[in-house]
Amino acid sequence: MPEVNFFKLVEEELALVESGLADNLDSSINIMNQASVHLIKAGGKRLRPAFALLAARFYGEELAEIIPAAVALELIHMATLVHDDVIDNSSIRRGTETVKSGWGNRVSIYAGNYVFARSLSIISTYQRSDLIDVLARASMKICEGEIIQMLSCYNVNLGLKNYLRRIERKTALLISVSCELGAMIRHAPLQEIIALRNYGYYLGMGFQITDDILDIIADEETLGKPTGSDIRQGVITLPALYALRHDPNGQELAQLLSSPEACINKAERIIEIISDSDGIDYAYYATQHFALKAQKQLDVLPDLPVKKNLYDIANFIIAREY
Ligand code: IPE
Ligand code: IPE
Ligand code: MG
Ligand code: MG
Repeated sequence: MPEVNFFKLVEEELALVESGLADNLDSSINIMNQASVHLIKAGGKRLRPAFALLAARFYGEELAEIIPAAVALELIHMATLVHDDVIDNSSIRRGTETVKSGWGNRVSIYAGNYVFARSLSIISTYQRSDLIDVLARASMKICEGEIIQMLSCYNVNLGLKNYLRRIERKTALLISVSCELGAMIRHAPLQEIIALRNYGYYLGMGFQITDDILDIIADEETLGKPTGSDIRQGVITLPALYALRHDPNGQELAQLLSSPEACINKAERIIEIISDSDGIDYAYYATQHFALKAQKQLDVLPDLPVKKNLYDIANFIIAREY
């Protein structure tokens, strides 16, 4: 991932996750295969597998039994992204063309479902209904988050609560579950499972707020996906929320963001207003708040090198540029 290798402790296992991904997306249907190979080659930060592995690292160095779960988590994440790119009409992801752009909407829907079903079949090999339950619930919440987001577009009257509910479901819960699963598979003490789950939750909240900031201010090439995508769709994120309430240009912004046409034709102006407001600083402040809360959860965990590692990752995640 970044310049500093935060995943060093689980580097070998992450390489196994990579081959696990390739093995599991092997379909006898040619077009599915092409789309899958493309998906895996595109890469990504592999954050969710890394979190499952790091959480398990508190309970021993032998991580072979975590690899299938780590693969399943990345597959669920990939499935949501394949569908998200259809919904967002995005042609670039992870610096390369999306399945939507290369193979169209119909293949994307099937490919997403295929990948999702594959992940459930992998998890079933643990023969533990508690693991399937946790993943299935998180997946339902992701759909809810996406639907709340869709229903909230162009609505400048919705506040912080609606925003937090959206990002919790669409993003934070899967990261939370990634940490939780690593500890659950290892039969960690309940208090520690909960601490890791909460760490992932708060970190996931900060992570999505950063994603929302990057949508407004990032360099598209570094980010590997289009910027301004939220604005063009009328998705009102934290920096915009702040500007709507506190910036002198708030009224103009409200008018623009309420109009689907303006969100597309005047996206530049909207981005300008938000970027010039204190909304970006405010949102960064919020990510810091969540990172601190994430770090605080680690207090009850054993003092092992992986603890410092998770601590540092929380700082990186909110300051990242991609
Ligand atoms: C992108 O997730 C979607 C969000 C939840 C913000 P990542 O930023 O983890 O995407 P990849 O896996 O690195 O491409
Ligand atoms: C995350 O939201 C979507 C999912 C959880 C699938 P975004 O729509 O912000 O993700 P990006 O920015 O396209 O990666
Ligand atoms: Mg998107
Ligand atoms: Mg985004």
